[in-house]
Amino acid sequence: MKMKLTSDFKEKLSEGIRSCWTSPSNIALVKYWGKKGHQLPSNPSLSFSLHEAYTITRILATLNTEGQGPLVNFIFEGEKKESFAAKIVDFLKDLTPYFEYLPYVNLSIESGNNFPHSAGIASSASAMSALALSLLTIEQQLSQEQMDESALKQKASFIARLGSGSACRSVYGGYTVWGKTDEFEGSSDEYAIPAGIITGQLFNNIKDTILLVDLHEKKVSSRAGHSLMTGHPYANARYEQANANLSKIKLALMKNDWNLFTEVVENEALSLHAMMMSSKPGYLLMHPNTIRIVELIWQIREQNNLKVCFTIDAGPNIHLLYPDSESEKVIPLIEELKNYCYQGKYISDRIGKGPENKYCK
Ligand code: PMV
Repeated sequence: MKMKLTSDFKEKLSEGIRSCWTSPSNIALVKYWGKKGHQLPSNPSLSFSLHEAYTITRILATLNTEGQGPLVNFIFEGEKKESFAAKIVDFLKDLTPYFEYLPYVNLSIESGNNFPHSAGIASSASAMSALALSLLTIEQQLSQEQMDESALKQKASFIARLGSGSACRSVYGGYTVWGKTDEFEGSSDEYAIPAGIITGQLFNNIKDTILLVDLHEKKVSSRAGHSLMTGHPYANARYEQANANLSKIKLALMKNDWNLFTEVVENEALSLHAMMMSSKPGYLLMHPNTIRIVELIWQIREQNNLKVCFTIDAGPNIHLLYPDSESEKVIPLIEELKNYCYQGKYISDRIGKGPENKYCK
């Protein structure tokens, strides 16, 4: 993973090197919950990348003549953020073994999301993947060796994982798998891979309406939640369940089976929250309106025979999933459910094509 720097890399840096990526958030259908080793997952997970919810990150790398970099200047949505900068500096220190150039640079990083801050959307996934890709682009400009697209994405996924586990899945578009499993050839605990399956038409352009139930910062972080899985009485059963659900969801996606998909996705969401409730100490991230919405989805789906289901991340918000072809039919359902959202807010999203660097100035 280490690359040799060119002999004139200092000269290149003295002129300044720019890189910029937009990278999406992703929503897990089979959830990663519980870690082992250094940021490795206790079970494999499968997600899809979103289209609308993304982070844009721009970096200017300049020469640190002392070789004691990187000094970081971090601007988040137009404002200097010292606390974020400190976190990024810590993260970058861990990355020196993978990026030989880091001590020789100072980094001016500008970042922003196109979705509201603390909207309950995992911004760490989009932010860490955008940062990883941007660091890779700088390395490519300073390196003697050029990586092909797939090697570049693999390293970006590896690096993003060290920042936030689920971020490793955001470097690809479409359906993505992270964690070693016999179901997906080439899968690894160290980085994500594209699921590489031919999905049925119901899943090709799947929609995700994110119902924003509560925008307060969560009381228990994902980091704390993952560590509560160590010694959890149901941990092993949960990991087996996730593996079994991964096999089922692969089948559902390939066979165009919406009912099986619904069964797996809702089972995963509810099991994730069951793990939180049965941790020691137990905790709740659902809001009373989260439960109200789930009940309404079940009721209205049954009454109207709708192809719609939900998933929930580590928070109170609901992701309403449905095939593109069902979009018209779910409008009245969304109109009803938004009554239980914070200020009636929701975000209309769908499966996306993954990170891009073409919109950077
Ligand atoms: O990547 P982290 O550490 O924020 O954990 C993400 C955990 C879930 O979002 C609940 C599940 C997942 O697989 O994304």
